Amino acid sequence: MKKLLAILGLLIITSLANAATVKYFQPPLEKDIPDNDFGKMVKAGRDVFMDTQTHAKPYVGNTLNCVNCHLDAGRLVNSAPLWGAYGMYPAYRAKTKKVDSIENRMQGCFMYSMNGKAPEAESEVMKNLVVYMYWMSTGVPVGKNLPGRVYLDLKKPKREPSWDEGEKVYQANCMICHGSDGNGQYVNGKTVFPPLWGKNSFNWGAGMHRINTAAGFIKANMPLGQGMKLSDQEAWDVAYYINSHERPKDPRQKGSIDEAKKDLHDENCSYGKEIHGEKLGAM
Ligand code: HEC
Ligand code: HEC
Repeated sequence: MKKLLAILGLLIITSLANAATVKYFQPPLEKDIPDNDFGKMVKAGRDVFMDTQTHAKPYVGNTLNCVNCHLDAGRLVNSAPLWGAYGMYPAYRAKTKKVDSIENRMQGCFMYSMNGKAPEAESEVMKNLVVYMYWMSTGVPVGKNLPGRVYLDLKKPKREPSWDEGEKVYQANCMICHGSDGNGQYVNGKTVFPPLWGKNSFNWGAGMHRINTAAGFIKANMPLGQGMKLSDQEAWDVAYYINSHERPKDPRQKGSIDEAKKDLHDENCSYGKEIHGEKLGAM
């Protein structure tokens, strides 16, 4: 009997150890925010991140909040956690063709993901965000690409992503929260379920408009609370579907849509394509 129990115990320990083979960084908890002037800035940064609509209004042009794509207050693995980013900047980025500071990186999310305008590096909003990120990254090594950073890198499945299949996945798994028109749901003007397309969503310059990026986010995180439920094919199909609807213009566009498509976009997106009689990018 004793022997059996020992074997059982060993089995449980080994399965726990297996489940924990990927060791993710553990960021500090809300309750660890220090009760001093530094802590006040951490909390102010958290407020911007959680309720960008209220705390950074002049810089926001849609109905999203940072936390809508960086879940659990910027903590969650495979949801572009803040602690995964902090130690990786300054960094050269192909998108900007220069070395971006951490402020520059966040300015990007304001201009594209939030369809707004960039707060100056010295602005209160940006300073508070940087302090929040710094605190969240307590103990993170500099220059180390930690597991769980950004979104899942989901390889393109065998079959080309399809609008019709994506629509089916959307209706069965997403519509209840994000709405039949993709505009999300609001209570007293507050975003409860964020928009996925249309005038209130991220614009054509945002990382999330890329089908591969959206598929990786969706696979790990959606339907909310049921990450990893969809197959890779379903995640790609539904990412293709939501990202083949109109959304705010790419602010980097100078000439025609075709020129912007050639200069700024690649094959992983529907920008500039004619889908269901609509040439995307003109909204
Ligand atoms: C519509 C979704 C969306 C919203 C809203 C959004 N982001 Fe992002 N964010 C992204 C995507 C996509 C990336 C790029 C991930 C990648 O590189 O694959 C990103 C990247 C980042 C990074 C760099 C991550 C890294 O590891 O390099 C930071 C920092 C960041 N966002 C901060 C913010 C802040 C601050 C806000 C609010 C002002 C915000 N984001 C709003 C989608 C969003
Ligand atoms: C139970 C409600 C619910 C369901 C079902 C759901 N989502 Fe979400 N989704 C949310 C919420 C809430 C957020 C924002 C999370 C946060 O702020 O913590 C979100 C965020 C998102 C985002 C990033 C923010 C944005 O607006 O672009 C995308 C993309 C997304 N969901 C896609 C999907 C897809 C695709 C499905 C179906 C496979 C789906 N969701 C199913 C509730 C849901």
